[in-house]
Amino acid sequence: MNINPTFIDIKNSEEVSTYIKQADASLKILGYTEHSFAHATQCAEKAEILLKELGYSEHEIDLAKIAAYMHDIGNVINRIDHAQSGAIMAFRILDKMGMSPEDTAAIITAIGNHDEKTAVPVNAIAAAVILADKTDVRRSRVRSKDTIYSDIHDRVNYAVEKTELKLNKEEKTLTEHFTIDLKICSVMDYFEIFLDRMLLCCKAANFFGLKFKICINGSNLL
Ligand SMILES: [Fe+2]
Ligand SMILES: [Fe+2]
Repeated sequence: MNINPTFIDIKNSEEVSTYIKQADASLKILGYTEHSFAHATQCAEKAEILLKELGYSEHEIDLAKIAAYMHDIGNVINRIDHAQSGAIMAFRILDKMGMSPEDTAAIITAIGNHDEKTAVPVNAIAAAVILADKTDVRRSRVRSKDTIYSDIHDRVNYAVEKTELKLNKEEKTLTEHFTIDLKICSVMDYFEIFLDRMLLCCKAANFFGLKFKICINGSNLL
């Protein structure tokens, strides 16, 4: 029988919490920015806001929140192919919790399609997770200020003081507004590491019939 766990059940799951914690511990050793509960929660919140504004149902929004919250658990296995391994992990967790095959399919499709090397926004949940994940760039993801001059990812994240994803339904645009301290990183630094991610965001926005735009410190760049 299908019980269909909700986002709250996933958030309260000790099993999911353990994998998020352990995945982040591995990424810390590998020198990656924060991928723990803050990243998982930010992604779930961003996906929720976007799908709500676009008129998706409560149920679809809940599925997107689950996918966004769990999207990086595959890093507990290995950084390489973590989207695919995370999708398989999520399949086992959700199946054990009694989720229906339809809902499980939507979630594992999104998790398996979130990494820019292999991702395609194949459904609304995948597109929302891509946009939420790729735009989570912020100072608090940097683990130590000591690395901001030697590590470009740390430098760019540290330079970002504020981000906001804004939907304009009339103009059919989705704009990521960044406030960046240009004394810490240049706009070129940003695009050097995030170009692939921004191109994927364009495809994800296109899925919703929207044009993706980037605005840095009040200037439209894309
Ligand atoms: Fe990821
Ligand atoms: Fe992520």
